[in-house]
Amino acid sequence: MTDLTGKTAVITGASRGIGAAVARMLHDRGMNLGLASRRGDDLGLERVVARPVDVRDLDALVGLCDEVADRFGGIDVVIPNAGVGAYGSFLDLSREFLDEMLDVNLKGTVYAIRAALPHMLGRQGDVITVASEAGRRGLPYEAVYCASKFGQVGLTAALDHELREQGIRCTNICPGGVATDFALEPGRGRTTDVLPGMMTAEDVAEVIVFALERPRHFRILETALRPMTEGSWG
Ligand SMILES: NC(=O)c1ccc[n+]([C@@H]2O[C@H](COP(=O)([O-])OP(=O)(O)OC[C@H]3O[C@@H](n4cnc5c(N)ncnc54)[C@H](OP(=O)(O)O)[C@@H]3O)[C@@H](O)[C@H]2O)c1
Repeated sequence: MTDLTGKTAVITGASRGIGAAVARMLHDRGMNLGLASRRGDDLGLERVVARPVDVRDLDALVGLCDEVADRFGGIDVVIPNAGVGAYGSFLDLSREFLDEMLDVNLKGTVYAIRAALPHMLGRQGDVITVASEAGRRGLPYEAVYCASKFGQVGLTAALDHELREQGIRCTNICPGGVATDFALEPGRGRTTDVLPGMMTAEDVAEVIVFALERPRHFRILETALRPMTEGSWG
């Protein structure tokens, strides 16, 4: 098992939901953290650099990663997790939502990895992308969200070829429904009564910690996890 104590992780979208659950679990394992979100929440944790960062801003992400590396001596793990979703028929989707999903989910992931990677080279690190089941299958009324999530999955899978030889593992985490604010975003038509049937943010965080703690002689390329209330859509 890989001991995470004293290692450093940068997590985007860490102010709530899955990102916050991952941050708390990694902190409990003794990791140092760099946390990015627009509200810049440090979750009340120690050994943290938390800054208000919009992941659409590469310079802001570079600034955070430089500061994290200065403070903790480098970066071992980057977890691009910040994400937004809006749903409905393709032509009804507003330009604002269309741009936000592509920019936050896809470009924000490219930017986060690009900002962290220079500080990870020469270390035994991990890139863990929080994608979605929507990054593995085309789902109805989620075309642009799926496009952003397929993009994340493709990026991370392609980087695996480049980074494996340098000792960096690349993993796509692809959850189904998780009971967070996200699950109730526009167009999903869901009310809060669906939340108890979903996975929790901690369920997903445990899978991420599991991937990180595997011995370094192998890597998990992709995981798919679903609540028992959800079908597998073939
Ligand atoms: N919940 C689900 O059912 C589900 C299923 C599969 C995959 N996912 C994926 O899991 C990831 C996390 O989702 P979640 O369920 O934890 O959502 P959430 O509870 O809504 O949290 C989203 C996080 O992203 C941050 N964020 C949003 N826009 C941002 C921006 N422009 N710049 C920086 N941070 C931003 C938010 O912080 P601020 O508002 O402070 O910026 C927040 O911390 C997303 O990539 C999502 O696509 C979710």
